Amino acid sequence: MSSAIESQRSATAEICDKRDDWSFHVTRDPLTRFLRDRRLQISLDMLSARNLLNPAQQSALVVCGGVGGEGIFLRRAGFTDVTVTDLSEEALAVCRRLDPNLRTMPLNAENMAGIPDSSYDLVFVQDGLHHLPRPALGFTEMLRVARTAAIVIEPYESLVGRLIGTEWEVQGKAVNYVFRWNHSMLKQMTLSYLLSAESVVLTRRLWDHNLSVGKVARRFPERCRLLAAKCVYAALTPVNSLGNMMVGVVVKPGKTAG
Ligand SMILES: C[S@@+](CC[C@H](N)C(=O)[O-])C[C@H]1O[C@@H](n2cnc3c(N)ncnc32)[C@H](O)[C@@H]1O
Repeated sequence: MSSAIESQRSATAEICDKRDDWSFHVTRDPLTRFLRDRRLQISLDMLSARNLLNPAQQSALVVCGGVGGEGIFLRRAGFTDVTVTDLSEEALAVCRRLDPNLRTMPLNAENMAGIPDSSYDLVFVQDGLHHLPRPALGFTEMLRVARTAAIVIEPYESLVGRLIGTEWEVQGKAVNYVFRWNHSMLKQMTLSYLLSAESVVLTRRLWDHNLSVGKVARRFPERCRLLAAKCVYAALTPVNSLGNMMVGVVVKPGKTAG
């Protein structure tokens, strides 16, 4: 394991040792749920629009899944077969405590050699690939082990994104460069790896800044907070083409029903 990867692993382990409260991952508070689940819900809507979503019948793998936020969302969305992976065993132990029905597996996203091709229907990553020294390798590994689609929710490469976002993330001794994606990158990486023009690359660019939107919404009385957050994102919709975030869905060849 490279020292960059090892330092990511130990930084996550340290966070898990220090932090007790992970309740935001399981709370039913509508504002928190909306803010945390919005991008994942958009990815499910994109799959659904192509008739590629059937949670009760599909297996899902979450890469760089930390303590299980995405896994918990997917279970609540009706998936019964969800495996959360991360470098950190400590994070996966928290994940199992938060939802004992989630499967967990320690995994370096850059090297999924232990997982055969096309093992999981859907493979998700959210805010994870930009922690890897080789994000493109993490992505092609996701594509390899996915049977139907890989879902990539990561920062979008743009001037605005770079101006308001972080370039270098530092967590204890761990440092990562925030790699930002766009449609063209995702498409080129997909075509060069899958070698098929039948692959479908869908991207949605949008604004996402949960801390700021949450702060604005919490100034309103509790009963209005969800509506306030929805209004902020709705107001930003006309300028989503300048947004800082990408929801990408890459559908493998021959899976383009609908
Ligand atoms: C910002 S956290 C995101 C966690 C989760 N996706 C979420 O949004 O709650 C990034 C996660 O990626 C994990 N990670 C970093 N490098 C990794 C690698 N090479 N393979 C697998 N996981 C990795 C870290 O341990 C950490 O849990």
